[in-house]
Amino acid sequence: MSFPAQRGRRLRRTASLRALAAETRLTADQLVAPLFVREGYAVREPIASMPGHARLSPDLAAEEAASLAAAGVRAVLLFGIPSHKDADGSGAWDQAGPVPQAIRRIKEIVPTLSVWADVCLCEYTDHGHCGVLDNEGVNNDETLPLLARAALAYARAGADVIAPSDMMDGRVAHIRVALDRAGYEDIAIVSYAVKYASSFYGPFREAAGSTPRQGDRKAYQMDPPNVREALREALADVEEGADMIIVKPGLPYLDVIRAVRERVDVPVVAYQVSGEFAMLHAAADRGWIDLPRAMQETAIGLRRAGADLLITYFARELAAGLSAASAAVPEAVPVLKGHQQS
Ligand code: PBG
Repeated sequence: MSFPAQRGRRLRRTASLRALAAETRLTADQLVAPLFVREGYAVREPIASMPGHARLSPDLAAEEAASLAAAGVRAVLLFGIPSHKDADGSGAWDQAGPVPQAIRRIKEIVPTLSVWADVCLCEYTDHGHCGVLDNEGVNNDETLPLLARAALAYARAGADVIAPSDMMDGRVAHIRVALDRAGYEDIAIVSYAVKYASSFYGPFREAAGSTPRQGDRKAYQMDPPNVREALREALADVEEGADMIIVKPGLPYLDVIRAVRERVDVPVVAYQVSGEFAMLHAAADRGWIDLPRAMQETAIGLRRAGADLLITYFARELAAGLSAASAAVPEAVPVLKGHQQS
């Protein structure tokens, strides 16, 4: 069938027709909101490069989590910002650290929200790398037990999901065994299986103070040109017991999301990272793009590429827009009113 019988514009004519014809949808259930947790009480320390986000003390992080849950968001992903750093990143498994404290507090005030804990050493090491160093660089196998200790600390505090983001080989299997041995066989592992050495983590590293003091992460995070390698990483993590797979960053890697989606059966999560968030804000600040629309367009783009879930710093705004959209439906009623009047 071709023109004039076929006219692509017919289903684009009204908002209702467009809504009916939408092939991809986004719901608040698909959103995970990252939160930065620091030490202290009643502290909110804004992050300049991430408008609307702040380093929060555990009490305020829990309040934030509760208000995200009220907006319909199903999960928060916690990152810790310790006041003390050392060579091994021992703060990562400190049961009294900001993340375990926040987990316990969130579970007290909003037990239905799922709590995801990022597991990595970079925020906790004084050198800023994601594992322990030897003469050659980051030592993979010596890092594994430390990651497992961190995972256990978060599981003990009540985390539902352990999310390792360090990119060490074999860490999913290692963490799985450690969790199972300690009786946490029901705690899920959502692994950053496909994490690229990206320029888009800049604002996060500023927020977390986790920029490597020397060198970069190219010897453990993935090389941007590679997609077949992404499949090997994803399949390896599923094999090791990952319950979901994260691809990160999002927008520059839509093809990778699609490729991974087609090869694994576990849920695929896209992480729209700090630099993607900051970039949209920066352009909007200059009046160059419309922020709410750009935010929605990137979110639906990640879903269309194949992501089941999105980790995004826009979670709150997206969720608010989604409930506003359904609340707007009764406004169709004025047509009826018109009938009554005539
Ligand atoms: C920790 C970690 C990073 C991010 C998530 N977990 C930073 C990094 O690898 O440098 C980035 C998140 C973001 O930019 O939003 N390894």
